[in-house]
Amino acid sequence: MAEEHVGPSEKQIAVHWREEEYYQPSPGFVAQANVNDPAVFERFSLENFPECFREYAELLTWDKPWEQTLDASNPPFWRWFTGGRLNASYNCLDRHLKSSRNKVAYYFIPEKEDDPPVAVTYQELFVRVNEFAALLADFGGLKQGDRVTIHMPMVVDLPVAMLACARLGIIHSVVFGGFSGKACADRIVDSASHILITTDGYYRNGQWLNHKEKADVAVEEAAKAGQTVEKVLIFDRHAGRYQSETPLVAGRDYRITELLASYRGARVEPVSMLAEDPLFLMYTSGSTGKPKGVQHGTGGYLSYATATSKYILDIKPDDVYWCMADIGWITGHSYIVYGPLALGVSSILYEGVPTYPDAGRPWRIAQRFGVDIFHTSPTAIRSLRMLGPDEPGRYDYHFRLMVTVGEPIEPDVWRWYYNVVGKREAVIVDTWWQTENGGFLCSTVPALAAMKPGSAGPGIPGIHPVIFDDAGQEVPAGSGRGGNICIRNPWPGIMQTIWNDPDRFVRTYYAKYNTDPNSKDWRDWPYLAGDGAMLADDGYFRILGRIDDVINVAGHRLGTKELESAVLKIGDVAEAAVVAAVDTIKGTSPEVYVSLTPGITPSEELKRRIIDTITQEIGPIAKPRMVWMVPDLPKTRSGKIMRRILSAISNNAEDIGDVTTLSNPEVVAGIQQIVKQRSEG
Ligand code: WTA
Repeated sequence: MAEEHVGPSEKQIAVHWREEEYYQPSPGFVAQANVNDPAVFERFSLENFPECFREYAELLTWDKPWEQTLDASNPPFWRWFTGGRLNASYNCLDRHLKSSRNKVAYYFIPEKEDDPPVAVTYQELFVRVNEFAALLADFGGLKQGDRVTIHMPMVVDLPVAMLACARLGIIHSVVFGGFSGKACADRIVDSASHILITTDGYYRNGQWLNHKEKADVAVEEAAKAGQTVEKVLIFDRHAGRYQSETPLVAGRDYRITELLASYRGARVEPVSMLAEDPLFLMYTSGSTGKPKGVQHGTGGYLSYATATSKYILDIKPDDVYWCMADIGWITGHSYIVYGPLALGVSSILYEGVPTYPDAGRPWRIAQRFGVDIFHTSPTAIRSLRMLGPDEPGRYDYHFRLMVTVGEPIEPDVWRWYYNVVGKREAVIVDTWWQTENGGFLCSTVPALAAMKPGSAGPGIPGIHPVIFDDAGQEVPAGSGRGGNICIRNPWPGIMQTIWNDPDRFVRTYYAKYNTDPNSKDWRDWPYLAGDGAMLADDGYFRILGRIDDVINVAGHRLGTKELESAVLKIGDVAEAAVVAAVDTIKGTSPEVYVSLTPGITPSEELKRRIIDTITQEIGPIAKPRMVWMVPDLPKTRSGKIMRRILSAISNNAEDIGDVTTLSNPEVVAGIQQIVKQRSEG
């Protein structure tokens, strides 16, 4: 596996990284923060594990208290808050109504700047969720434990659909709206969904995108794989007007606004779920072509998303909070929907791209709504900086806290974020975590630790990370060596399993450092995150990037294998390898290497077909930056493609590493020649 690493460049960067200076939170920030007592670390020390996490669960309203905080009797299938009962939609909605039903839950901001924002109160969200839940139960025939696939863009109907599922105990599986119909189909098939919830279309970068056409592809492709979608339920971007160019299929497609007429005023009792009943699936890329359905439970996940929103994002009742991520990713699930709603805060939900129509847009939104907590990714920061380096200074807004998440942030970009976006007033938290984790793992606790550009920070309270080398030895702090970051202990937000594939769950996350598969002691089951990291003397972790065949493009996680399998659908392509090339905006961007079937000659037309196929199969986010047609790919003697070498070539590395283990070392010079033409051309 070590030979197959993608992106050795990241390791090289690490070697050259110097230690950065600290930045301190202001005394004003510290004084008001939700956590400013260092005793929190003692409370959440390993000695107090797992009972320390009771505090997290106590932030929620339970129908029935839990009996055991952690049942660790069947590692690594941890069961949190067993015996307890609760409902996630109740916690996000009903419990706020008494004191704050007129408070805004979401300010929906259409991408078109002339379209007025829409404020949706907790009461209004409650009503919509109830009516839609009634529709799902009655017209949809859905019940607790069923799976539903939701393929939606950033509109309020998306959290409505999620919470309606949660109210009924239906397991939602949200597919990022930018994914293709085919990618949606794969997820429909794996989760065995009979119902697809979608929308007619939406606005993105100034364009109307026909979204419903993807549903047709999804249903058709799912059918080929044996999964029948009986009903497609379609929201309207403009309520009451169906605007997709794609016609409705009679007996299969239904417009939600029409159906809702029968459910007006309906109220649905929230189903009292066991803490360990699954809440949702979120598919994420793994090292094989098949995306894995990360399964999150109700009580543990919701406790963790809520508590980390309170203590790390420092959300308070009167904040206006804006997370610019997409709800179709885990950041949106935990930190646009479940965490913030459970805390009852007002959030911005923005439809479009951050730089539309110009790089001042986010700052105008911040100014207009008085946003004081801002949450985004390094990719967004890089592009806002590139297109409008001085824009933030032109607007009168003031952030108290800012978040970066999804990729490593370069110290230089961090400093622009701090000085220019945050106006030197805002604390930054660089939060490292993953779909599998439910919520943050590493970050500074904002009032309790200094910030250090480029480093996420130590484990947050209750999270005890460690770096192991490939042989299982602990890599000590300050050694300057990278290794595999692991978490020593379970925590409430950790995934429960991979949907339908518990063996893969154990293999992927626990097998590497577990020495005794029969051990019933959680200490023998460190969680392997799959990222390389370095630990500095001060206990701060710097994340280096993925160690498996996963690449991170603009904060979106893509499996190299997914792209490769798409390319290999083209008959003219013999072999394909995808690597991550360093990109000034997106962090990394995919480059595709292909060898062609005999008799086929390279052409621009074929190149275009490869790019189009990837876009159709996966979506525009996976669009490769370059397609290199080469005579042969470098391979080990056992026939494994050596992506490491291709990655070094794509990244202009001075030293491409050892080629002596190749079965065909002679091809390397030829490939270098072809790629060199780029820098010369
Ligand atoms: C990367 C997103 C550096 C990492 C929440 C991880 C980060 C993957 C950071 C998970 C960060 C996330 N610094 N790298 N602050 N946050 N990553 O599942 O490689 O979409 O494994 O979850 O993003 O991506 P995912």
